[in-house]
Amino acid sequence: MKEMKKGLEGVVALDTKISYIDGIQGILKYRGINIEDLADLSYDAVSYLLITGKMPDEAELSEYSRMLVANRGINGKLIEVLKHFEFGVEALDGLRTAISCTAHFDEENNQHTPEANKNKAIKLVAEFPTIVAALHRASYGDEPIKPMDNLSHGANFLYMLSGKIPTDLEAEAMEKDLILSAEHELNPSTFSLRIASSTLSDMYSAVICGLCTLKGPLHGGARKGVMDMLDEIGSIENARDYALGKLERKEKIMGFGHRVYKTLDPRARIYKDVARRLAEENGDTSWFDMAEELEHILYHEFVEIKGKPIYPNVDFYSAVVYKYLDIPAELATSIFAMGRVSGWIAHCMEQYSDNRVIRPRAHTV
Ligand code: ACO
Repeated sequence: MKEMKKGLEGVVALDTKISYIDGIQGILKYRGINIEDLADLSYDAVSYLLITGKMPDEAELSEYSRMLVANRGINGKLIEVLKHFEFGVEALDGLRTAISCTAHFDEENNQHTPEANKNKAIKLVAEFPTIVAALHRASYGDEPIKPMDNLSHGANFLYMLSGKIPTDLEAEAMEKDLILSAEHELNPSTFSLRIASSTLSDMYSAVICGLCTLKGPLHGGARKGVMDMLDEIGSIENARDYALGKLERKEKIMGFGHRVYKTLDPRARIYKDVARRLAEENGDTSWFDMAEELEHILYHEFVEIKGKPIYPNVDFYSAVVYKYLDIPAELATSIFAMGRVSGWIAHCMEQYSDNRVIRPRAHTV
């Protein structure tokens, strides 16, 4: 039996054309294009690129956006189901169940043709934001707000959440958030989705596997963890004691560290810039200042204690962005999933297209 790698660290499990990470240089590409160049596009364009493997031309993008807008509405029966969920802790539990219900309402659920999978992909990308917003409103006893056709994917989500049309910067921040969250090679949730896909289970089931894995605090759940942490720290003056206390107790600080990046995650740099601009537009930079102070403290403490720095990951400044967008912490993981669903679908289709069931061995001790 070959050597066992705990946490599969450094193990290469498959070939992919969907994304590329260089963790030493801090490079991330989707389909060969740098994340810095993708961040200024629309989420629709990046979603199309991930799922089809091709950057859309004007006509293709306009048709894709039209199909997404046409599929934003959700089944009335699903809205009734959402009203029965208990809330307050983690909306992702509701989203997971809602996607399962959605599968029941889709007659193509168990059809595995490329055409059926393409239809499912569009429905999933289009419906995720509507479901998350409706779930949130239902938890406060409010009726869902109907999608607005002329708003972008991100702006429409913010609108469906609060009923207010977002500012240009808020809309840009939401689009960027969804783009930056859309794909990241063989992260835990994508790997679990690839395993489900490799058994030739359907796309909804595979996406639900992704959701369940994303939830954990060591993965996508860290975004909520950062929002809670910023609340707990409360002000910039408390940042040092908080950080040192955590390190002394050998507790993980949410939003820092990464299995692959040994330098700053390029997405964190973009999120930081968006967070700074939102803070300035808001006229209150306190969340941003507190986060930046924590980043500096941890960088220096890690150099001192471990001889190497630690950097913020994708969840750190995205949480600061959510603070300025007035997004409740319990929605953070679900919004992460709204972006990631395009990457998941791309991986599901890539797995179907060249499948061998994923089945490693265990070393019996
Ligand atoms: N806070 C404090 N110490 C940390 C942190 C952290 N956030 N991250 C790593 N370390 C320390 C570990 O304690 C360990 O120290 P040791 O060598 O003295 O034992 C060392 O750095 C290596 O860390 P590991 O946990 O072994 O690294 P691994 O690659 O297994 O885990 C992970 C990476 C899970 C992301 C880790 O850094 C972590 O738990 N971070 C906090 C949670 C988080 O932000 N997760 C989101 C990641 S991004 C995403 O999934 C979307």
